[in-house]
Amino acid sequence: MKFLTALPLLATTAAAIDLHLEWAGGCSTSQGGFVCFNWNPNTCCSVNAGTLFGSGTFNAIPVQWNIQARGHAGPNCGSVRQQEDSRGRNFICLANGPFGGLGYGFNNRKKVRGATGEAEAEAEAECVQPDVMYLADGTQYNYTAILEQKLDTAELLEIAKAGASVADIPEAFETFKLAQ
Ligand SMILES: *[C@@H]1O[C@H](CO)[C@@H](O)[C@H](O)[C@H]1NC(C)=O
Repeated sequence: MKFLTALPLLATTAAAIDLHLEWAGGCSTSQGGFVCFNWNPNTCCSVNAGTLFGSGTFNAIPVQWNIQARGHAGPNCGSVRQQEDSRGRNFICLANGPFGGLGYGFNNRKKVRGATGEAEAEAEAECVQPDVMYLADGTQYNYTAILEQKLDTAELLEIAKAGASVADIPEAFETFKLAQ
């Protein structure tokens, strides 16, 4: 199992969390997936049509932050299925999918009360689609641009989900390939 902690393209900004939706379980990048780049808190990253993913990761978490990493049950950003606090870690793997979306919030110490002492976090405010789709072979596509062009993504998602390589992807999407 390999972990994709930072795509070369995305290793730019500091203090920004990147969320990865992986088709495969166990936070493996082996089948490709999506990247929600430089993601804001309390925003759930989810692919349309209720697409489900086997696992998800939270990358480049500033170690001084204590975030609550959430994996949502489907469809899209449903109820929280798995969550973990970062507590100084810069990487979290949520392996217990399927997930319809990922998001995070800050644990709010002021709200800590009650017998359990559990911190509460704000609920996800909105559901936003990922920036980048990547294939099992590492090829990346600008998913934002694909959505802007209003292309039908149903077939693309079906192909990508099966662990496709670049040769399997319809030509219409060639133009959205990102330089590696
Ligand atoms: C992806 O496409 C969007 C919209 O066309 C554009 O604003 C953005 O800069 C592109 N991202 C990359 C990494 O090329």
